[in-house]
This record gives sequence, C-alpha cells and structure tokens, in this order.
Amino acid sequence: MGDKYTRFAPFYDLLSGEYPLYHAGRVLGIAALAPTQGQQVLDIGCGTGLNFALLQDRIGASGTIVGIDRSAQMLRQARRRAEARHCDNVILVQADMVLEDPATLQRRIVEAGGTALSDAALATYSLSLMGDWERAWATTTSLLGPGGLVGVVDMQDPLGWARWLTPLARLACALGGSDIHAAPWRAVEEQCTEVVRASARAGHLQIRAGKTVPSRTG
Ligand SMILES: C[S@@+](CC[C@H](N)C(=O)[O-])C[C@H]1O[C@@H](n2cnc3c(N)ncnc32)[C@H](O)[C@@H]1O
Repeated sequence: MGDKYTRFAPFYDLLSGEYPLYHAGRVLGIAALAPTQGQQVLDIGCGTGLNFALLQDRIGASGTIVGIDRSAQMLRQARRRAEARHCDNVILVQADMVLEDPATLQRRIVEAGGTALSDAALATYSLSLMGDWERAWATTTSLLGPGGLVGVVDMQDPLGWARWLTPLARLACALGGSDIHAAPWRAVEEQCTEVVRASARAGHLQIRAGKTVPSRTG
C-alpha cells in the first residue's frame, strides 16, 4: 500500500479523484475541525498536501501544519506544494503512524521545529488504509494537548439512490489500498465530545470532528 503511494506520488493529485469526488470531504472536514489562528495542526497521512491551503486559511501564518506521512515521495510532493505557496510554517515528518513510537514521534516533531503538543489533528482518506488504524489513532491523540480537536474524513459504501455505485466505490478504494469497511470515524463518535457530523457524495464520504477527552483516549 505504501509502495503504491510511493510509485504514484507524482500522479496522485491527477489520479486521486479530487474533483469532483474527494475535495468536498476535505472542505467539510476542515470546516468541522475548525482550527483557529495560530494553532498547530497535525495532518495525518498528509500525502501531497491537498489539505494545506484550506488549513492555512484557518490557522494563518502564525499557525503550524505538521504533515506526517510514511512515504518520502508523497512528502516530496507536499514540500513542493508548500514551497509553491510560500508557506514556511509547514513541517514534514516521515513516519509510519502505526509503527512509530509516540514519544519518538513527538520528539521528532519538536526537533523539526514544532511544539510537543498539537492543538488539532486531521486525517483525510488516510486512516482506512493504515491497517491497524486504532493504533494510529491512539498515537495521534497522544500528540494532542488537553481538549485537542480531531477530524476524520473517510469512505464507506454509498447510500440510498447511489447504492448502485457500490462496486465502483469499492474498486476505487481497493485500488487506493483503503478498507472501505474500516469506518475510522467511529473513534471520534466513541471518544470525543462536541461531535460534528457531516457526509457528502451520497454518504460515500463520512466526516466527523470533535474534542478529545484526555482520560478516555490515548
Ligand atoms: C489516500 S492518501 C491521502 C492523502 C491525503 N490525506 C489526502 O487527503 O489527499 C493516503 C496517504 O496515507 C499515507 N499512509 C498510509 N499508511 C500510512 C501510515 N501507516 N503512516 C503514515 N502514513 C501513511 C500514504 O503514504 C498516503 O500518502
């Protein structure tokens, strides 16, 4: 799966179905997360940085985006994107969110210029292809300060009138390495307060955001 993203990194933006499908989810996800000026936001499995512009609009130049991805090639594209936008508040860390020790990852973020605890974390279309996404989630929440915000945007089978598109949606997810049945937004439902819910593209895109409760996460 990681190899797939490594091989196709230069073509990801072109082939990922961003328009007309997946852009809508990231817009809703970042609106639901609602990070504010000056905050540090983790972009979990940031890929080529398609969230960066929308996050920048929220956190401004005084905020920080910490993009974490296991693929060096995807991070290279993300670096190019940040440089093209003249964003010098983007930190990129190559790490596997399932395998990396949380304390080590935190130290690496600080060494790269970030703060130890982040204000918010966003995972768009990434947890469902991490296999043991619960572990990635636990690592993510351990990197947040008290009451940190989390947002998850991911995919499931389309609903209602669009159910006939299910084989197509499943094929697209399989090609991308995602488990369409993972439903990682459940973690937000189960562990957060002030949960905001949204969906798009006939339910294919599920969006959740909320506030972590320190004693019930990590
Ligand atoms: C479908 S792409 C989504 C990228 C981006 N979040 C977006 O919305 O366009 C999934 C990304 O997750 C990364 N990824 C997969 N498994 C990972 C893991 N265990 N740890 C960190 N990144 C991972 C891949 O390298 C890829 O860049």
